Amino acid sequence: MGKQTVKIFDTSLRDGEQVPGCKLNTSQKVIIAQKLEDLGVDVIEAGFPVSSPGDFNSVVEISKIIKNTTVCALSRAVENDIKIAGEALKYAKLPRIHTGIGTSDSHIKYKFNSTRDKIIESGYNAVKYAKTFVEDVEFYAEDAGRTDNEFLAKVCEKMIEAGATVLNIPDTTGYCLPEEYGEKIKYLFENVKNIDKAIISCHCHNDLGLATANSIAGITNGARQIECTINGIGERAGNTSLEEVVMIMKQHENLNLDTNINTKLLYETSKLVSESMGMFVQPNKAIVGANAFAHSSGIHQDGVIKNRETYEIIDPYDVGVNKSSIILTARSGRSALAYRAKLVGFDLSKDELDLVYPEFLKFADSNKSVLDKDIPKIINNIL
Ligand code: KIV
Ligand code: ZN
Repeated sequence: MGKQTVKIFDTSLRDGEQVPGCKLNTSQKVIIAQKLEDLGVDVIEAGFPVSSPGDFNSVVEISKIIKNTTVCALSRAVENDIKIAGEALKYAKLPRIHTGIGTSDSHIKYKFNSTRDKIIESGYNAVKYAKTFVEDVEFYAEDAGRTDNEFLAKVCEKMIEAGATVLNIPDTTGYCLPEEYGEKIKYLFENVKNIDKAIISCHCHNDLGLATANSIAGITNGARQIECTINGIGERAGNTSLEEVVMIMKQHENLNLDTNINTKLLYETSKLVSESMGMFVQPNKAIVGANAFAHSSGIHQDGVIKNRETYEIIDPYDVGVNKSSIILTARSGRSALAYRAKLVGFDLSKDELDLVYPEFLKFADSNKSVLDKDIPKIINNIL
């Protein structure tokens, strides 16, 4: 059987942009949206139009330039939100309204002072109303991670009946364990009788560092869309990182799942988002961090110089990074020094290397790292 496709729903411009201090203007958003389309995402969540005139305008402008990707606008289960979202999507070739409401007992009681029945009714009416603007309506059951599964199944069945094409099951607070989240998705497949009429989507937050693991548990239990952001940006500890879930599917052939992402554009997209938002990427971030393909200990460097695959499971070229790097520090061995010396024009014999290495260690012990410009100085001191 061929691989099944998992759709990638990017919410960098909506959930991602909720990061304090990372606000983007319309032209920055348009540039990023175009990059996301080039990257191959299936859905771009462009904003929450009712939230501000600026966000409304961004959704309009993105809708005008995006050609082959679904453009999605967020709304609450409120008529005016949905109407404004519908208006903002007027120029979209493939428009989607994303509407929904909190379904956990905590949200029902404290946010809405409501009842389960009334929540279903509001959700149902919201989906029906959204359908008067667009065919493609996604429903989110906010805080689904902490929602009772039996009630969640009832919500899903009703929303599909109202015409929802996609059901988003957000772990809004990042609370679930991967097994628990996977079980939730499985439960829905087993207990929602019309589930074959909709796509199930995972939207996981990273409060416990489990967003990626939870999303993978979701797709291995039948979900076929992941909502994620570039660099994992988003509310609080962030959302599922797009580059991580995409590369997990690519590297683990046995999952039999694939995406439409051109992975060679991952690194440059990460840089664009990081620079536009002024939000720096932690150096040890998987896939796109500055150290993701850098080796600094002697044992690892020796292995990588002999064969990259000894310490790398991803070819950096596959994610748009030129090459692995061998960083010279006081933990580096002779082979790393010889390798880097050769790159700057010194082909050291074994005897020469034996002479230079102690001098190199002396220098490295008193400096954080050894740069290209330091290598000739160290060698010329000794030889
Ligand atoms: O985390 C969440 O529940 C959300 C919804 C609005 C989809 O972002
Ligand atoms: Zn979210």
